[in-house]
Amino acid sequence: MISSPVNGLQTTPAQAPISEWACPTVYFDGACPVCSREIAMYQRQPGADQVRWVDVARCSADELGADLNREAALARLHMRRADGQLVSGAEAFTTLWQALPRWAWLGRLLSFRPVLWMLEAAYRAFLWVRQTWRPAAIPLQPQGTTAVALPKPIVADLRTDHAGETGAVCIYQGVLHFARDPALRDFATRHMATEQSHLKSVEAWLAPADRSRLLPLWRLSGWLTGALPALFGPRAVYATIEAVETFVDQHYEEQVQRLNAMGSTAQTQPQIKNLRATLIECQGDEVAHRDEAARGRGQHAPTGLLRAWCWLVGFGSRAAVRVCRYV
Ligand SMILES: [Fe+2]
Ligand SMILES: [Fe+2]
Repeated sequence: MISSPVNGLQTTPAQAPISEWACPTVYFDGACPVCSREIAMYQRQPGADQVRWVDVARCSADELGADLNREAALARLHMRRADGQLVSGAEAFTTLWQALPRWAWLGRLLSFRPVLWMLEAAYRAFLWVRQTWRPAAIPLQPQGTTAVALPKPIVADLRTDHAGETGAVCIYQGVLHFARDPALRDFATRHMATEQSHLKSVEAWLAPADRSRLLPLWRLSGWLTGALPALFGPRAVYATIEAVETFVDQHYEEQVQRLNAMGSTAQTQPQIKNLRATLIECQGDEVAHRDEAARGRGQHAPTGLLRAWCWLVGFGSRAAVRVCRYV
């Protein structure tokens, strides 16, 4: 979204006269409360009407220009000089200050290179602290909609989903490593393809920096969860999958309920609606997996060692989710 320096109306690049573009443009993160407050202060200064202000959390991709993507624009302040040159960080601040008459002296003073480097170091330190209230924005955005970082508890949920789907793929890899029964191999091959598509869906929602740091452990645990019962035959594998998917169904259900419990304003956000739809789709597949596994293990519920193993699988899944919320 752009505030026109001429009349304050919202315009798009296609609508804006050429002359309007020959002015400095600030690209700021309007979804960060600290950044937006600071920008609001600059917007009240004399001369601010000669600057174009673009809120990168709410603008369309076209409004950023070909040389700036949303992820980069959300990560740090950018400014386009009147000659079209793009600068960022400390240099963007000094450029902005020079564009505001009351601040011009400070902008000129701090644009001296060694001072600018120190200012850049301070700005990077601020960005590091900023992560505590403004985590990296989720890269998947429906075309033309607002890019808003998801709340931390939802990112934590997605971290558990990502770890879980990673483990799920490995479960079937473990099964296929030992299983020789054609029906079981077909079951594992089909399910693995579904889990890979789940993993891809979740990856689209979760920035690499937000993923679990224990993925090698989840991969190994998943592989063993599939491989060990595969050594004992199809019934053990089906009972294991039933136990895993019973837990996963509950886990997705809890997340959907958490999204439902968010205010109606949040629920109407395209990002939340899309995430909810993704989770429900995954949950539907997991329920189908659970039911197919239940049919595969036969009429009799697991007893003895197999029952203890299934309990351990459920307990391990719950424990892994708890750890994943933090690591
Ligand atoms: Fe899955
Ligand atoms: Fe599954």
